[in-house]
Amino acid sequence: MVVSRQQTDKVKMGKKEDLDKIAREMTENKALPLSKTTTNLVFGNGNLNAKIMFIGEAPGYWEDQKGIPFVGAAGKLLDQLLALIGLSRKDVFVTNIVKHRPPGNRDPLPEEIAAYKPYLDQEIKIIKPKIIIALGRHAMNLFLGEGKISLEHGRGRIIEYQGEKYLFIPMFHPAAALRNSKIKEQLKDDFKKIPLEIKRLAEPLN
Ligand code: URA
Repeated sequence: MVVSRQQTDKVKMGKKEDLDKIAREMTENKALPLSKTTTNLVFGNGNLNAKIMFIGEAPGYWEDQKGIPFVGAAGKLLDQLLALIGLSRKDVFVTNIVKHRPPGNRDPLPEEIAAYKPYLDQEIKIIKPKIIIALGRHAMNLFLGEGKISLEHGRGRIIEYQGEKYLFIPMFHPAAALRNSKIKEQLKDDFKKIPLEIKRLAEPLN
């Protein structure tokens, strides 16, 4: 089937409206547990027709200031990692499980993750990625249940989530890589394997 430029633009427009609607709902939802202590909502950002969606943990200081995910030091590393496999932020969609910054950059609490999850679920349904890459254990555990990122990182698998199949790859969080050079090397190796993992596992998703 040939999809015209006009049709693609129409799909993109529908997705943008749907995402804007969720962002508005989140802004108005004063019951969201971290809404009172933050500067900005940090909603997902990137290519609305991306095949690959990266899901991080929660915004940090710069993300909170700018309202855009992964724009601080961890984001700079994410950009470099994407470049390793010939991609840029324009090719992918990047979001977080929790869309407000936890005070002092602490880990999000289980009840905070649960409160923001319905919005992430809607985001995934709208973007319709084929590949989900979880950055860090919190994002990984949301899809796989309790696991160890040190054991699971870099291993792709097909998962079913909200009735859809995805190629799912957990990775170390870029912020962890900034603190530990061994993790950084591992994360680089895992990124370089992404094209191979896609080749190995993506067939059933087509
Ligand atoms: N860490 C995350 O998990 N998300 C961001 O957006 C920035 C840092």
